[in-house]
Amino acid sequence: MFQVSNQHGFAMGLVEKTPTPFYYYDMDVLHATLADISRHTAGFPYHVHYALKANGNPFIVKEIAQYGLGADLVSGGELKAALEAGFKPQDMNFSGVGKTDWEIRMGLSYDIGSFNVESIPELEVINQLADEMDKTAHIALRINPDIDAHTHKYITTGTADNKFGINIEKLESVIEHALRLPNIHLCGLHFHIGSQITEIQPYFMLCETVNKLLDHYEARGIHFEMINVGGGLGIDYYHPDSHPLPDFEQYFNTFKQHLKLRPNQQLHFELGRSIVASCGSLISRVTFVKENRNKQFVILDAGMTDLIRPALYEAHHEIQNLTSRETEQATYDVVGPVCESTDVFAHDRVLPVTRRGDLIAIRSAGAYGESMASTYNMRALPHSVFHSNK
Ligand code: LLP
Repeated sequence: MFQVSNQHGFAMGLVEKTPTPFYYYDMDVLHATLADISRHTAGFPYHVHYALKANGNPFIVKEIAQYGLGADLVSGGELKAALEAGFKPQDMNFSGVGKTDWEIRMGLSYDIGSFNVESIPELEVINQLADEMDKTAHIALRINPDIDAHTHKYITTGTADNKFGINIEKLESVIEHALRLPNIHLCGLHFHIGSQITEIQPYFMLCETVNKLLDHYEARGIHFEMINVGGGLGIDYYHPDSHPLPDFEQYFNTFKQHLKLRPNQQLHFELGRSIVASCGSLISRVTFVKENRNKQFVILDAGMTDLIRPALYEAHHEIQNLTSRETEQATYDVVGPVCESTDVFAHDRVLPVTRRGDLIAIRSAGAYGESMASTYNMRALPHSVFHSNK
């Protein structure tokens, strides 16, 4: 287990001199995470792709590229960022239900590793554009396996009634269709069942589903070079100091033990949150502390525009006062300055007695924090700093 060096592991000199709000990235935590992934995948035909949507900060993306991971993309913008960071096009997957023509052309022009295709209309458009460009498109079909990942309703993706993927009962006809298209090379099957998955059972069920499908298609002489099981591994948002790394061992072991890969078959993963969430914190300064009839509010200079997860998904992030020397505690609602009643980071949170000017860390914000920031209320986008003790 990776241990942080001081109370919460922050380089306070850097924190105190940087204008708030900003994202603080602990590069040692990022490196420990990447090293742990390498350790648990070495010796297996496993390829981890980083889902850039979790954090597109060029500095972070570049570090990840240097560890030899592939890239999971959902837009032309992410494709450009991945190229700039040094990912190889053949190690890129392009996912998403609504790829536009220019994005497909861009992927084809670089001969990316695979398009994760979500429907027959998309398959036909990719075939047509590949024909026009005299290219062959490598594709994986995204299957909706109808597995409930027991996660927040807004981030579950693998159940039958949401917009993602191809329903399993239609798969046979879509495969036949794909095999008939001259500019399509069907290389794999793709799954993604949701995000912030903290139980292992949904992944076990996914392995069973994949095994059944492989038995079925191998018996018909159809071989897939690659199976992509998506991402979704959750992190411990409640214990950022004592439990900064997700349980990669248990996660990869589930696939090692239960997914029966065939000869010449690679297993791809598309992890986002589990790679970058723990290394990032949003640092903010207390603008005011105010009391209403029943409540005390800590009002920060960071708001939902900097980190929207609590407002959008009722997500929990640990909140720490980095500068208070008080031994007494009090209960606060921790809120931002944006003119929306959902601009709340936490209700009824116990903190040391907090005052104007204190520095506050909102932890585990490295994934879907900076990448989902907006300029609502004409606020500036948060900036970022990077720290390493090495
Ligand atoms: N692959 C596909 C096809 C995806 O849709 C996603 C995430 C991933 C991989 C990466 O999943 P991860 O390993 O990060 O769970 N904004 C939300 C999360 C949205 C996830 C969208 N898809 C949040 O802040 O919780």
